[in-house]
Amino acid sequence: MCRQPHVLVLPFPAQGHIAPIMKLALLIGAHGVKLTFVNTEFIHAKMMASLPEKSEERRLINFVSVPDGLDTEDDRSDLVKLTESVHRTMSGHVRDLITKIEGSNVDERISCVLADTSVGWVHEMAKNFGIEAVAFWTSAGACLAISLRIPLLLDAGVVDNNGTFILDEPISLSKDLPSWTSSDVGSDPDVQKLVFEFCLFVSKYAKFYDLIICNSNYELEPVALRLIPNILPIGPLAIESNSSSFSGSLLPQDETCLQWLETQPPSSVVYVAFGSTGTLSLQQVEELALGLELSSQPFLWVVQSGSLAGFPDGFVERVADRAKFVEWAPQEKVLAHPSVAAFMSHCGWNSTLEGLGVPFLCLPYFADQFYNKKYICDVWKVGLELEEDENGIKTRDEVFSKIKMLLSSDIIKAKALQMKEAGRKSWDEDGDSFNNLKKFIEHIKSL
Ligand code: UDX
Repeated sequence: MCRQPHVLVLPFPAQGHIAPIMKLALLIGAHGVKLTFVNTEFIHAKMMASLPEKSEERRLINFVSVPDGLDTEDDRSDLVKLTESVHRTMSGHVRDLITKIEGSNVDERISCVLADTSVGWVHEMAKNFGIEAVAFWTSAGACLAISLRIPLLLDAGVVDNNGTFILDEPISLSKDLPSWTSSDVGSDPDVQKLVFEFCLFVSKYAKFYDLIICNSNYELEPVALRLIPNILPIGPLAIESNSSSFSGSLLPQDETCLQWLETQPPSSVVYVAFGSTGTLSLQQVEELALGLELSSQPFLWVVQSGSLAGFPDGFVERVADRAKFVEWAPQEKVLAHPSVAAFMSHCGWNSTLEGLGVPFLCLPYFADQFYNKKYICDVWKVGLELEEDENGIKTRDEVFSKIKMLLSSDIIKAKALQMKEAGRKSWDEDGDSFNNLKKFIEHIKSL
């Protein structure tokens, strides 16, 4: 009898990275593939707390954990610190784990490592063990194409070793794609450097990838995906996994907002959420609040602890009859609700995919979010950007007028539905993502 194929799954330990790779893992696990899912101890504890004992996930997946190298009280939202610690500490533990599995019963041996590009060292490690190395990219294919282009840009002298752009010229991957400039990762030079180093990291380990899976499809990104060697787009994973109970959320989701949405008129609510990592300035929160108040629309706002401080005096009381605040929402269910009319978003790639079908108001603040915004506003034309004033603030008047403009645009609404269909269609039998998933599972089984 053939031995059961075994995939070792390694995400980067952050919300936006864990959810999509877990969704992919569940899809392959449902086809008889044995899964070992490696979390950091910190994430493992959160995940176990949110997964019921008898859940499908626990049945299909063997969860293991390794230390991330940080102390219990350390701030894991500090991406620089987390990344540095993960590279320094986690790699040794993962090597030990692979050594242990490979040295055990032959039936347990790993057929393939499926790991986030942010932990690229595991792909090199896998190749050294003679194991297939599959990379998982959580952002848009276009951003991967840009990352892989960075070494060439270095050679061409367009960026120096600090990630500072020497030329002001925007970089174009193709005439059919939005161009990319240094400000497309944020104006902060430290952030530019961080993103630049990440791009270099990805390109350094790319030679070890046997295959790279991207949470996207050719309907959404017909140009960018064709620029990437060894790419296998399987997405949007959010759409395919709608039927599963697992949202991939590491925080408890407040479901009371779904009952609240039931009480609101169809296509009326502005859903406001900025992902898992970001914090806006208090002044920006105040302007958003006042803009939403001016709009007179009902709204549902995900307010992570701390942000409430930016609310103007009396705001919560004044909008009480048409607003709902939660600390963490069941986002995919919210975005699928017929009462939702618009999504005010930071444009993280998961949010971008989950929001297909809903017009966007874009407020990117970090890394790939600026490029995702270009897809939303300039390529797919399913949203509007909140523009900054000369002080770098999106003012209440800007918020008010863009909400009005967005909600009255039948063209944007129609485009949004078209793009939702572009996402869904690839999961039809014989659609691209459906076929690529099948191909991937067959490939794992052939190893
Ligand atoms: C980041 C990057 O922005 C993103 O582009 C990259 O691909 C992964 O890392 P993040 O900032 O967390 O991710 O944003 P996003 O990619 O949008 O992911 C947020 C996730 O949190 C989504 O899956 C969303 O459904 C979930 N979420 C958000 C909730 O479950 N509840 C909420 O209230 C808000």
